[in-house]
Amino acid sequence: MKKYISTFTTGLSEPVKSFLKSSVKNTTVLNVWDGLIYYKTEVKSQFIKSIPVLSNSFEVFYFKSNVTSLERFAQNVLNYLNKLSKFPRQFDDRNSFRILYFDKNTPSKINWTLNGKIEKNIIKHTKLKLMKSKADFEFCFHYRDENIGFFSIKIKSKNIKKGREKGELKHELAHILVQISEPKFKEIVIDPFAGNGSIPICRAKVKGKPIILASDIDKENTVSLKKKVKYLKLKDRIIVRQLDALSMTRYEDNSIDKIITDPAWGIYQKIENINEFYNNIFNEFYRVLALSGLIVILVSREISIKTILNQNFKNKLIIKKEFETLVSGKKATIYKIGKLNFRHESLSN
Ligand SMILES: C[S@@+](CC[C@H](N)C(=O)[O-])C[C@H]1O[C@@H](n2cnc3c(N)ncnc32)[C@H](O)[C@@H]1O
Repeated sequence: MKKYISTFTTGLSEPVKSFLKSSVKNTTVLNVWDGLIYYKTEVKSQFIKSIPVLSNSFEVFYFKSNVTSLERFAQNVLNYLNKLSKFPRQFDDRNSFRILYFDKNTPSKINWTLNGKIEKNIIKHTKLKLMKSKADFEFCFHYRDENIGFFSIKIKSKNIKKGREKGELKHELAHILVQISEPKFKEIVIDPFAGNGSIPICRAKVKGKPIILASDIDKENTVSLKKKVKYLKLKDRIIVRQLDALSMTRYEDNSIDKIITDPAWGIYQKIENINEFYNNIFNEFYRVLALSGLIVILVSREISIKTILNQNFKNKLIIKKEFETLVSGKKATIYKIGKLNFRHESLSN
């Protein structure tokens, strides 16, 4: 089994770990640090690149704990390379490589002589040609705060990643939100703040045959999302509508199984009273949500969700889990919220 490390969005260790355990076969998680998971698996590296909750992935050749600096870790790797009889991976000698060093997630450099020795050793073992930029392979040295170091090679993607639209959620994060919603084979899911549709599209690709209702108040957004859904051949799964999330009158009370959403934070779009806006959102969500339903919502940490829920939704909505994360460098929280069956709870007490 080969060993790998992959990066992921900060604060989401628990859902990433559980996704890997449940959805990637023959995989053992060796350790998780914030934003980094270390695991061994039988799946091929090209498959790893397509695991949706992960960002960058690396095949690990050497790991060391209790190491006190990047420089010392690089010396450890040199000792490892010196003793090595055969490199753990084969390469085509027409290809090239370069070395990248990261000290606590920041690109860094090491002593010139030590770097030269490491380069020579890698050439000796792999027969690859050294290139300072645009190389076929990138050997990476990661040294982290937890006094650990990884010597690895970056797994490159064959797919060229398309840029994101303004306000569009990162694919990995959309996938985590869907994952937290405990997707079932058949269910009705809404994203009433669908924007560019990252959440509904992700949900449609994940599991079963859900009915997904994606809506947005903005006409342009809904027109372009309709085109996207048609292009992706997801028309039988996703229904796109122009709708105000604060008044979803076409949905009946208690009719929706899951609400997975990333509402406006009042940054791109000015919102007079953000707390009132969110209070109205939860009023409508509470009305349409089925009794066993779930809300998974990503919000800025500047919005007082807990106060709103405590003041106005006591015995109605309950926070089941929360994950603090960052979205484009801004502090955010993902809440998993359930609807309380107040009558049932009172009777059983
Ligand atoms: C943060 S963006 C959602 C981004 C989306 N998750 C994506 O990945 O593209 C919030 C969206 O809410 C929409 N919006 C704002 N107020 C709304 C309302 N009252 N009802 C429905 N949509 C609204 C905005 O037009 C915007 O597209």
